[in-house]
Amino acid sequence: MTADPSEIGVPMDLEKLLTDRLAPAFSTVAGVPVDPVVRRSQRADFQSDAALALARRIGRPPRAIATEVLERAQVADLCSATEVSGPGFINLTVAERALGGLVSALATDPRLGVPVSAHPETVVVDYSAPNVAKEMHVGHLPSTVIGDAAARLLEWLGHRVVRANHLGDWGTPFGMLIEHLADVGEAEAAQELSMGDLDSFYKAARTKFDADEAFRERSRLRVVALQGGDERTLRLWRLLVERSERYFLAVYDLLDVTLTGRDFHGESSYNDLLGPVVAELDRLGLLRESDGASCVFPPNSVGRDGEPLPLIVRKSDGGYGYPATDLAAIRHRTGELGATRLLYVVGSPQRRHFEMVYAVAELAGWLVPPARAEHVGFGSILGADGRMLRSRAGESVKLVALLDEAVARATQLARSRNPELGEAEAAEVGRAVGIGAIKYADLSTDRHRDHVLDWERMLSLDGNTAPYLQYAYSRIRSIFRRAGVTARPDAGISLAEPAERALAFELVGFGAVVSEVERSLEFHHLAGYLHRLATAFSAFYERCPVLRADEPVRDSRLVLCDLTARVLRQGLHLLGIRTPERM
Ligand code: ARG
Repeated sequence: MTADPSEIGVPMDLEKLLTDRLAPAFSTVAGVPVDPVVRRSQRADFQSDAALALARRIGRPPRAIATEVLERAQVADLCSATEVSGPGFINLTVAERALGGLVSALATDPRLGVPVSAHPETVVVDYSAPNVAKEMHVGHLPSTVIGDAAARLLEWLGHRVVRANHLGDWGTPFGMLIEHLADVGEAEAAQELSMGDLDSFYKAARTKFDADEAFRERSRLRVVALQGGDERTLRLWRLLVERSERYFLAVYDLLDVTLTGRDFHGESSYNDLLGPVVAELDRLGLLRESDGASCVFPPNSVGRDGEPLPLIVRKSDGGYGYPATDLAAIRHRTGELGATRLLYVVGSPQRRHFEMVYAVAELAGWLVPPARAEHVGFGSILGADGRMLRSRAGESVKLVALLDEAVARATQLARSRNPELGEAEAAEVGRAVGIGAIKYADLSTDRHRDHVLDWERMLSLDGNTAPYLQYAYSRIRSIFRRAGVTARPDAGISLAEPAERALAFELVGFGAVVSEVERSLEFHHLAGYLHRLATAFSAFYERCPVLRADEPVRDSRLVLCDLTARVLRQGLHLLGIRTPERM
């Protein structure tokens, strides 16, 4: 795939530009390569403290080092002032012309300063992965939302993204589910399942299983029939899978998640590979018998007692399980699909499982550099009481119930805040804001931690929330709409006001944030950036008149407004959040 050069984008990262200028000077002074560690600063625009650490290493006073670095560094075109301050900090003030030039370049860049990756790769994003005939509950939300943001962002950066919805569609519970399906009758069951009533179907099967010895025995035989490829059993199984997939797709649609029917790569799709995978582990001499099961003991895994932990690849009853399936999936993804980056967006409780699976795959040669696997873990969503979120009946909360409530609340708010919105538009806005709020609550918090689901906070127009960002976007769009003007991307940029400068610095920082998230998949950095951008815009808009300003300042400010809207829209789009034109 060759990209149109205008679509490749230019890096606008000031931190990087300044780093590239200071690094050679530092290295000359030190006689070894030095990272100047340039950061945004309160004192000037940017600051480097590298002279302090270097002083000890080379035995010279830090101020003398900093002074010599500034004499040697070629920064005249970028900086209007430089100084050595305190014990040896280097302070850099960016020249208005340089900053304005970056803003102008941004204004004509369709990629908003985010270049396409110079090293595109095939990335598999394993996410969502609900289980057939089981309701999606709140616990599936982070995987679905974070995984989708990862897929969107990596795709936008030019990577080939394979979305893998590792559906739980195989295993012993299917004995009981299929048997229950046969009892109820196909037509009846299909009806029940298409109502999205996965929960009551599952529970009915479970209740019978727990109470009825004969049913248990039938279920056991049904598992054997399923594994043996019995035609009727497979047909009933397919019915369960198909109805469940249909239901999950409806949830994805409501959630604005990009997963489609083609992205289901259920556990069952690896069935034929499980035998060969275990045979190969055996051939490599990695298998050990333990209590009748075939296990691999990866060197990175020891229990609390210091004993090595086994990864069970074949159970004592001869069946394969979850670990073997994940090994087959890795081999398929690196081998068949040619992927070099494997992402697993799965809750933190499965961390140990993935560490062991990766270690075994490495031993077996299915995961060798440059290919690598990363567990993108996340914490739980808690209720207001700080405990796992539960419904009133004490059960886990259905995801659709949560989404419906979010949309209902947001629609109500949209109507009361803006009576000008018609019924249909209020419903559209309610959906965008309600779903956006739920997704943003997940994406704006450090994913490693648990977070509390707080309706008031999440739907508030103030603070680090989706509605705040969506509102900022719609407000900018209304400036243009009401005045009937458009921004001229070729307008000269003037940044005389501090609020204009502050906004410009945020705008040119988009690329750096996106490339950081490409690596870390910590979307709260992108969310935090968008929030800072919207806040900087607010301050700018309060202090700097736009439409009432004289030319050429008016045109310059219109470009700042337009760019802010475009970056907000693109950033929210990467998070999977819509941006209504009016709210
Ligand atoms: N279905 C599994 C669960 O609900 C998650 C699967 C995650 N992906 C994987 N490749 N193991 O726990």
